[in-house]
Amino acid sequence: MKFLGANMDEDDRDVNKYKKYKIILWGLMVHFLLLFAVFDVYFASPLDKGMAPVKSTDLPPAKRLVLFVADGLRAEAMYGDDENYRIPFLTKLKQSGSWGVVHTRMPTESRPGHVAMLAGIYEDPSAIFKGWKANPVPFDSVISQSNNSWCWGSPDIIKLFNKDDLPTVHLHAYGSEMEDFGKNNTGLLDVWVYNKVEKFLKEVHGCRGSLCGKYFSGGNFFFLHLLGIDTAGHGYKPHSKEYINNIKLVDEIVRNTTELFETTFNDQSTAYVFTSDHGMTDWGSHGSGSRHETEVPIIAWGAGIRANNQRQDINQIDIAPLLSSLIGINIPINSLGIVPITFLNLNEDELSNVLLSNTLQLLKIFNIKKRRIETNALVVVPFKSITDKSVSEMLDRLNKLQNKKKLRNL
Ligand SMILES: *[C@@H]1O[C@H](CO)[C@@H](O)[C@H](O)[C@H]1NC(C)=O
Ligand SMILES: *[C@@H]1O[C@H](CO)[C@@H](O)[C@H](O)[C@H]1NC(C)=O
Ligand SMILES: *[C@@H]1O[C@H](CO)[C@@H](O)[C@H](O)[C@H]1NC(C)=O
Ligand SMILES: [Zn+2]
Ligand SMILES: [Zn+2]
Repeated sequence: MKFLGANMDEDDRDVNKYKKYKIILWGLMVHFLLLFAVFDVYFASPLDKGMAPVKSTDLPPAKRLVLFVADGLRAEAMYGDDENYRIPFLTKLKQSGSWGVVHTRMPTESRPGHVAMLAGIYEDPSAIFKGWKANPVPFDSVISQSNNSWCWGSPDIIKLFNKDDLPTVHLHAYGSEMEDFGKNNTGLLDVWVYNKVEKFLKEVHGCRGSLCGKYFSGGNFFFLHLLGIDTAGHGYKPHSKEYINNIKLVDEIVRNTTELFETTFNDQSTAYVFTSDHGMTDWGSHGSGSRHETEVPIIAWGAGIRANNQRQDINQIDIAPLLSSLIGINIPINSLGIVPITFLNLNEDELSNVLLSNTLQLLKIFNIKKRRIETNALVVVPFKSITDKSVSEMLDRLNKLQNKKKLRNL
């Protein structure tokens, strides 16, 4: 009897043990499921594919565009009482062009900042799977849409673009060992870019023959990425003489580059945009959402730019359709930006065409997203104020007004 009883106890214990493991296993499974759901919901790429590109305008006000990005330059360091001392050339351009503050989004890092201004998309949360170092999904940009583009700068930025190996895109980056070298003399990185651009423009100037046509065609894009200010901000902080001296150097480089472009092409058809990817905190860092990190300058001048005597505030993604509209190329297909028309020196008919193209481009994204949700979701509750019928009615109305050249009456 005693013997049997002991045996039964042992059986009971085995059953209890088994139950305990079962509960732990279920618990783990539920936790993994919940964890997976968080990633599935919040860290999925918002980028859609399959939109046909939309041309920004048939009558672009400029033939070519030069974009300067002064990496890590905060708006506060540009505008202010001593701007005549820090940025004498750019200060003069504020009078003859448009200027303002660009609001960037978090994370205030170089890659998302450049993707926002050149592709018109905010950070893709699925980048977390690539350690935030690369864009997980290939994306369209002003660089790939332009007729020809030439880019100079840091390898981390320049190599983000042209993943499709387009023959019209020309990328020139220094080696990463130069970035270490640049830590002691931050201006070196910017002078490297300037020297390359100077050499390139000399070649263009002396170019004869049929191969030179591409330099002079419309829809060309030139991009100068200047990393010195960011390096000085990290190494010496934004109030240091190194940071301020690097701003002065960039102002000089912008002046020299502008003069070179004007003499090389000599047709008053070049537009220029100067901006930054993100700002910098007082203690020399960036990444989060403080004002010093999210507010960066923008100054635009040259062909097609209106003279605005007051500050204009825009979102960073609005830069992508602005650049596209200046040289009449397709708006990057995933761009969510809205073209800031106060920057453009166009008459009302041309402005309404630019806005209409931007609207049609955004509508293409909306339609594809809608179709994706309708095919994938179990239950779809349509948004009442935007139905297929109301959209097509609005489009009919816009087309009629455009044909009558009456869009300005809206
Ligand atoms: C930069 O300066 C530091 C200290 O002055 C020196 O130790 C280092 O070797 C320098 N680095 C380069 C790449 O010149
Ligand atoms: C792009 O280049 C082609 C050929 O050089 C030219 O025909 C076309 O007009 C250019 N596009 C724009 C927007 O100027
Ligand atoms: C800009 O041009 C001036 C005058 O030609 C020259 O003295 C200066 O060194 C140039 N700046 C740079 C950064 O090369
Ligand atoms: Zn940066
Ligand atoms: Zn930085």
